[in-house]
Amino acid sequence: MTSRLAPDDPRRLPVDHPGFKFHETRNPYYAKIRDLADGGAALDHDAEERRGKWRDLFRARAPGLPAQLRLVVEVGCNGGHLLNGWAEREPGTAFVGVDWKYKQIFLAADKARKKGLANALYVRNHADRIDYLFGEGEVDRLAVYFPDPWPKKSQWKNRTVREDWFRKAARVVRPGGELHIKTDHAGYFDWMEGHLGRCGELWETLELTRDLHAGHPSPLALEIPDVTLFERLFIRDGLPIHSMLLRRR
Ligand SMILES: C[S@@+](CC[C@H](N)C(=O)[O-])C[C@H]1O[C@@H](n2cnc3c(N)ncnc32)[C@H](O)[C@@H]1O
Repeated sequence: MTSRLAPDDPRRLPVDHPGFKFHETRNPYYAKIRDLADGGAALDHDAEERRGKWRDLFRARAPGLPAQLRLVVEVGCNGGHLLNGWAEREPGTAFVGVDWKYKQIFLAADKARKKGLANALYVRNHADRIDYLFGEGEVDRLAVYFPDPWPKKSQWKNRTVREDWFRKAARVVRPGGELHIKTDHAGYFDWMEGHLGRCGELWETLELTRDLHAGHPSPLALEIPDVTLFERLFIRDGLPIHSMLLRRR
């Protein structure tokens, strides 16, 4: 298929290139997110304006939040099922969900608004731009749950969690902070382990398991937000959950 982009269009640049430019789309949820009156979700470069200022933004929205505010980020948050659940459970922690799907981000922010969750904000952007969204050491905990596995070899180039992404994640997670990854896909997990092995100076492995719920008496009874939306489906399908918990050195 030929690209409709002009030869000099900056969108031809890789998405994580500093010169890459997002553009307005005809997706109806683009305008819905842009026009959200409460600023509960932000788009593309607008979201990147918040880099390094997330805690100030949360405090402006909810002055009651603690001075030492923990910032938790989920990349690939989908419709915010997990993150809104966490935000409800931990009202003194700030949560940011990132996903590239406009509709899911709108729905996530809309749910947070309806539940009155001032400590949950959403971003429509790309996982590869994590270091444009968050400043150095700004994040306490970063979660990536069930990233698309891109199972065919020809698709591996699309996988999010690879060596350069582990390095980007290490820029945004503070020393002592954590990165938690879960997947049902054994091949992707092996791939991640290989890539992690090349940046061991950045990440210490705290836990690594290929069957996270093996010791649980009744994994089928686990509910969101103890598990994610997709995790619940995979548990029902009898698939073991692979998980790695890493600490930033
Ligand atoms: C399989 S779903 C998992 C959703 C959720 N984490 C869960 O466990 O229920 C993967 C999510 O990642 C999002 N996603 C995939 N690639 C992405 C990327 N490069 N940047 C941002 N989001 C991405 C998808 O839109 C989708 O919402």
